[in-house]
Amino acid sequence: MKIKPLLQRYQALLDLPAHTQSVSLLEGGTPLLPLPRLAQELGGGFELYAKVEGLNPTGSFKDRGMTAAVGEALGRGAQAVICASTGNTAASAAAYAARAGLRCIVLIPQGKVAAGKLAGALAYGAQVIQVSGSFDQALELVVQTSQRQPIALVNSLNPHRLQGQKTAAFEMIEDLGRAPDWLCLPVGNAGNITAYWMGFRQVHQLHASGLPRLLGVQAAGAAPLVHGAPVELPETVATAIRIGKPARGEQALQAAAESGGRIVAASDAEILAAQRRLAAEGLWVEPASAAGLAGLTAEIIAGRLQPQGRVVLVCTGHGLKDPDVITQALPTTPVIPAELAALEALLAG
Ligand code: F0G
Repeated sequence: MKIKPLLQRYQALLDLPAHTQSVSLLEGGTPLLPLPRLAQELGGGFELYAKVEGLNPTGSFKDRGMTAAVGEALGRGAQAVICASTGNTAASAAAYAARAGLRCIVLIPQGKVAAGKLAGALAYGAQVIQVSGSFDQALELVVQTSQRQPIALVNSLNPHRLQGQKTAAFEMIEDLGRAPDWLCLPVGNAGNITAYWMGFRQVHQLHASGLPRLLGVQAAGAAPLVHGAPVELPETVATAIRIGKPARGEQALQAAAESGGRIVAASDAEILAAQRRLAAEGLWVEPASAAGLAGLTAEIIAGRLQPQGRVVLVCTGHGLKDPDVITQALPTTPVIPAELAALEALLAG
């Protein structure tokens, strides 16, 4: 099978400058995994799927947007790209910058980025700078830097990122034949929910493919869009969405409202329970990526949502990104001598 670069596959539907170059790691084309057992457990009467975005080249959905943002930066003659990140954007920017032969600078909140993401950014050769502050403060710094120096900003404030990311909506419509009825997804800086809505609306205008209702889910300790005010000191186990002042917050609220959906908060305990539940289906995602299921479950239990038709959970990043959250929570694993009797005694346990 020959896989095409994402931007080439959807060229006719993307609004990108003519100078955009192809910088691809063959991203996108991720599976839509059916979860029938989990749907039954949630009350049944609907189809449930996960869009497995952790299977992108650097392990998160960011690659869809980064192929566009870095390709555009390269085409316009940029020498370097910069971003602030809770981790996944950093790893993705680093990989695509490496592919393009550009310098990459990433700012991350000190001590709050999961091991797999930091390692990725370093492996791909980015200059990683820790900021003793929040993601929101780091974003402010990179925005200012990109205005003062010839360095391209590749956070989702960059409109080309959204062009790339909306392709996930196109793929979903191809797989299902129409848009799902509900789309449940984590919300951090609010670029992805904005991009999905853009993509679904675009195809609906062309082909009457329907529109999903959006259930955006923030972590309870970092839920500015639920509280209606910025959160100064956001805190959550889902470090990917530990964001107190989402850059595209207004657009996210508008998208959710227009769709007939909403943005809700899920507690860390609910997020971790959802992560375990998905893992029990063979799908290990990082904590933030389980937020969609956490929000959906809480809404169903509270009687606020009765799913019908098809529901899609956007699982944004791979579980391998954040191994510590699992190993720290687990009991220590037993050590036995390399003897059959010891193993059998343990198994009989
Ligand atoms: N899920 C994961 C795994 C993420 O890494 C992010 C954002 C989101 C969901 C939320 O997406 O920001 O578009 O609303 N991560 C960014 C980063 C902030 O720096 O990697 P969003």
